[in-house]
Amino acid sequence: MHLPHLLADASFCAVIGHPIAHSKSPFIHRQFAEQAGLALQYERIDVHPDELPSALETLRAVGCRGLNVTLPHKAAVAALAVHPSARVAATGAANTLWWDDGLHADNTDGRGLVRDLTQWGCELAGQKVLMLGAGGAAAGVIPDLLAAGIAGLWIWNRTAARAAALCARFSPGKAQILAPVDDSVMPQAMDLVINATSAGVVGEVTALPAGALAPQTACYDMFYADGATPFLSHCQALGARQCRDGLGMLVEQAAVSFERWHGYRPDTAPVLAALSARQ
Ligand code: ATR
Repeated sequence: MHLPHLLADASFCAVIGHPIAHSKSPFIHRQFAEQAGLALQYERIDVHPDELPSALETLRAVGCRGLNVTLPHKAAVAALAVHPSARVAATGAANTLWWDDGLHADNTDGRGLVRDLTQWGCELAGQKVLMLGAGGAAAGVIPDLLAAGIAGLWIWNRTAARAAALCARFSPGKAQILAPVDDSVMPQAMDLVINATSAGVVGEVTALPAGALAPQTACYDMFYADGATPFLSHCQALGARQCRDGLGMLVEQAAVSFERWHGYRPDTAPVLAALSARQ
C-alpha cells in the first residue's frame, strides 16, 4: 500500500479497492466537504487483498477518520469488523468503516439505492421487484428494499443455486421474498427490475427472464457507464421506457458515509449534476 502524504490541518478519509484508479469517491466527498466547509483530504488507495489487515492497521494508526471500501474487499472487511452494523451482519458486506474502540463497519449501499430510487420518483411500497444477480452487490441492498415495504422480491441469477441461497438467507420472517426464478419465466410483469450482476463490467448483457418487462417497468442498473449501460440498452431494446443507471446511488451511498463520519448531511443533487456533466 502506498500511503499519500498527509496534510496536517485536514481530516483524512480514503477509499480502498483493487483496482481503485477509476473511483469517483474522491470527487464526490470533496464536493460534500466544500458544502460542509470541512477541510478534508480524501484519497484513493490501492490495497491488494493480501495486505488488507495490515493496511487497515496502518490507516488507523495515521488517524484515518473514515474509509470507503469497494471491490474486492467488501466481504473481507465485514469479517474483520469488531462492530458490524445490523446491515453488515445481515449481508456479509461492508462499504463504510471507521474506528473508535475497534473497527466499525456499515453498508450504505441499500440506503443509497432506496434514496436514489425515491429521487427518481420510484416509490417502493407495494412494488413487485425483480433482482438480477445473487452476489454481494445484490445481498447488500436487500435489507433496505424489504424495509421500504416492497410487495415481493424475486431473485434471478445465472446460477440458480446462489439465488436460492440468497432467498433462504433473507426468508425467515420475511414473507415478501417469494422465490428464485429458476425456469426463466416470470409469472407477471415487474414494477421494478434491478441489475446487480457484474455482467456489464465486462461489457456483457445480463439475460432477463421472459415476461419480467412491460413498457412501464422501471429498469435500474446499479452500475453506470459513459452512455447507456449494456443492461439498460438491452431493456430499452425490449421496450422499457423508464431506465436509470447507478450514478445517483453512488452519490447517495457516499452521502450516508459522509454523514456517518462528519455529522453533516450533504445536498446530493448538485454533486450528481456535476458528476453527470463529467461523464
Ligand atoms: P458482487 O459482490 O459484485 O455482487 P459476485 O459475488 O462475484 O460480485 O457476484 C456477481 C454476480 O453477477 C453474480 O450473481 C453472477 O452470477 P453467477 O452467480 O452465476 O456467477 C453475476 N454475473 C456475472 N457475470 C454475469 C454474466 N455474464 N451474466 C449473468 N450474470 C453474471
